[in-house]
Amino acid sequence: MYAALQLNAQTTSSWLGAGKPVDPYHYTQVKHDFFKNAAVSCAHPLASMIGAQMMKQGGNAFDAGIAVQLALAVVYPAAGNIGGGGFLIAKKANNKFLAIDYREVAPGKATQNMYLDKDGNAQLDLSQNGRLASGVPGTIAGLFATLPSAKLNFKTLIQPAIELASKGYVITEREANSLNSNQKAFIKNNNFAPAFVKTQTWKAGDTLIQPELANTLIRIRDQGAKGFYEGETAKLIVDEMRKGNGIISLEDLKNYKAKFRDPLSFNYNGYTIYGFPPPSSGGILLLQMMKMVENSKEIKKGFQTPESTQIMIEAERRAYADRAEHLGDPDFWKVPLKGLSSNSYLVNRMSNFTPGKASKSVDIGAGTIKESEQTTHISIYDKEGNMVSITTTLNGGYGAKTVVQGAGFLLNNEMDDFSVKPGVANMFGAVGGEANAIQAGKRMLSSMCPVVVTKNGKPAIVVGTPGGTTIPTSVYQALINVFEFGMNTDNAINQPKFHHQHLPDEVFIEPSFPEALKSSLISMGYKLTNRASIGKTEMIQIHKDKIEVAADRRGDDSVAGF
Ligand code: GLY
Repeated sequence: MYAALQLNAQTTSSWLGAGKPVDPYHYTQVKHDFFKNAAVSCAHPLASMIGAQMMKQGGNAFDAGIAVQLALAVVYPAAGNIGGGGFLIAKKANNKFLAIDYREVAPGKATQNMYLDKDGNAQLDLSQNGRLASGVPGTIAGLFATLPSAKLNFKTLIQPAIELASKGYVITEREANSLNSNQKAFIKNNNFAPAFVKTQTWKAGDTLIQPELANTLIRIRDQGAKGFYEGETAKLIVDEMRKGNGIISLEDLKNYKAKFRDPLSFNYNGYTIYGFPPPSSGGILLLQMMKMVENSKEIKKGFQTPESTQIMIEAERRAYADRAEHLGDPDFWKVPLKGLSSNSYLVNRMSNFTPGKASKSVDIGAGTIKESEQTTHISIYDKEGNMVSITTTLNGGYGAKTVVQGAGFLLNNEMDDFSVKPGVANMFGAVGGEANAIQAGKRMLSSMCPVVVTKNGKPAIVVGTPGGTTIPTSVYQALINVFEFGMNTDNAINQPKFHHQHLPDEVFIEPSFPEALKSSLISMGYKLTNRASIGKTEMIQIHKDKIEVAADRRGDDSVAGF
């Protein structure tokens, strides 16, 4: 049992991983591996190893999913969280599907125009930073909604996170740089010095200790979800709200509920893909983009040809145009899912596609994409045959950049995923209207796209990624790389990506995008915009005799298994 294990600070721990020690002071990344029984891929090596360990000691993929999310809340503070929300989609070994929605909701005092000044101008600093940016967190409710599918006891699953928070772990170079570049924001958005603030600069190998977070995790261990949504932690959240302009109340916290949804499924070339329905746009965007290119002669031209790339971009443009208009929380807005996914509608959408010539997006409300999308994905497969795909988020990197004093966790800035004002772009450049307007108790539209795939009813693929509005395009390209271009798991997720989201009318490309392909697209009339990396995809492919797992090479992501 983890509870009995001793962590010896600054030296090695006594944690036993899946065949090797889990040592929070010395660990390495594994990007691509093959296992016989079970596998995990996520944003941090320690969290992956903890997930594998849980499965090795008798847990299943749901146990691993809970333990990995809690560990990421400690070792990957930019996106791992207990103050945010997420979506879990799973195919169980008994062939039942599960889709848990633990997306944040707008607080009871939220109003449609809460981020507009007296002249009606959107004040995006308020929807993106500080206490008012936060929706009511859903993650802990999501973990407890997952627990009935798990096998181990919650105390076992949370113990590694408690130890990592109380005794610390060493940070990587990437994490040190990320913490350093956010120092000013942490100081501006808090009126105390949270664990992330340091007088000297952070460097790789420094130990990050989070005692207040450890105490919050202990309250959750001992009191369950009430250890977060009621009592001391809830009081600390509301006290934090009162220090500034925050509006989350004790009642909002007590009333938060995770919801069970019906997965959205479709077929592609003999595979069945299961994605998340609204309030995420992820599943329907993926469906639309994939069905718009399936069986086209262009996609058959092969990987990185001008023809296949162009048709994929045009499918992205059209799907994202629908997102802005039609998608929102289905409990508040009638989302025309059937129409948006019908074959005749999608054929019609592509009827004005002209090979060799860029289409033009409707020209209102264009925004710019910032490069701070931070969300995190976990793919897991276990020896019983459970596939679990989880994407969870604080929204931007380190969310609202505000830590709940005394509780040690970051608030999300998910309110920015609502349409703050029709036509005004959010931090991802996404625009929206009535469907995604702010209302008390409503879930803000997401792009998160956790996916599981079957072939002939058998487990085939678990995949997902962070990346704000680029999430569905990353998953789309990873799946097309497997289904159409025959790539292995590692290659499928690490190819240079391109992203078009209708507005702005530009194709965002990663630095390694090939020069010849750039020239071809420019000659067709596309505006290409260079940007930093897009997403960090974690994929598992289940082959007949082995499990292949890969972690994105763009980050500290790492796989584990046995
Ligand atoms: N906050 C990113 C998303 O939900 O799409």
